[in-house]
Amino acid sequence: MQERPHRLRRCQLSVPGSSEKMMKKAAEMPIDFVFLDLEDAVAPSEKRAARGKIVQALNTLDWGRTTRCVRINDLGTEYAYEDIIEVVEGARENLDVIMLPKAMSASDVQFVDKLLAMMEKKLGLTKRIGIDVLIEEVEAMMRVDEIAASTPRLECLIFGMGDYSASQGISLADIGGTTGYPGDIWSYQRHKLTIAARANRLDAVDGPFADFKDASAYREECRRAMILGMVGKWAIHPAQVSLAQEVFSPDPAAVAEAREMIRAYDAALADGLGAVQYKGKMIDIASVRIVRNLVRRADRLGL
Ligand code: COA
Ligand code: MG
Repeated sequence: MQERPHRLRRCQLSVPGSSEKMMKKAAEMPIDFVFLDLEDAVAPSEKRAARGKIVQALNTLDWGRTTRCVRINDLGTEYAYEDIIEVVEGARENLDVIMLPKAMSASDVQFVDKLLAMMEKKLGLTKRIGIDVLIEEVEAMMRVDEIAASTPRLECLIFGMGDYSASQGISLADIGGTTGYPGDIWSYQRHKLTIAARANRLDAVDGPFADFKDASAYREECRRAMILGMVGKWAIHPAQVSLAQEVFSPDPAAVAEAREMIRAYDAALADGLGAVQYKGKMIDIASVRIVRNLVRRADRLGL
């Protein structure tokens, strides 16, 4: 069985697959992950043509180190199976990940997994195409554990708060968290999704924030997601990309302190102690586990 690849997802930029101009612009950006959209950013009249534009963009633009993903339409539409077939047959090794929106159950993800496996065999692809899944229906949130464990091909769970709000009956004004609801309106959903992701060694990513001119509100949403263990957030506009990549990059001073703390703990162990004082606070193996997460993220980014 192939190992899950370690991909960076500090920011996943959504780019309408109907826009050659925006795809070209996205390819030029230094960003971890781009998904070319066939779903909500593309009008029904443009969906079929967008498949060809996406294949062209994947095959001809220089994407550098950016992970290249395509978001297909959901499995309740007439588009989804041909989205996968046309994009994978057209782009082959130039596609890294398929994003599945509105997954309802583990069997939805398994359907995409099986179709991709058949195509990889037929086309002789050596690199396994990954799957990222959007959790954006109340049914999916209820079954998030089952979805997270559905297939080893799955790499990431994304919380899609726009559709999710509609599904749960939350009003539009509440999405940005500005209506005075006590506490963070997404605390429960972000926790639940991140726990399911971590328990299955998947990445957890936070979805879109529509008010792209409000940098400080966006940064705050990134920070909340990051504190809970999410690895990144969506961008819907270029202005959001560097904000997310900054918030989800480990702070060099914190990484240096983490490495120092690990050394202090190792020295304590060598003296036969399991808990010691470090900068006036108690540290033990649990503190070291927490900061090792930070060091691992820094290592992955070469910091
Ligand atoms: N990807 C790549 N380029 C983008 C972009 C994106 N998501 N959003 C905007 N741009 C480009 C624009 O084309 C424009 O390029 P230019 O300066 O060369 O003309 C530049 O960035 C500045 O854009 P701006 O004029 O501020 O906004 P706009 O009116 O062109 O676009 C949106 C605003 C919201 C329509 C656009 O950002 C968008 O389509 N976002 C993605 C929507 C989406 O994917 N939704 C589904 C997922 S939630
Ligand atoms: Mg959606």
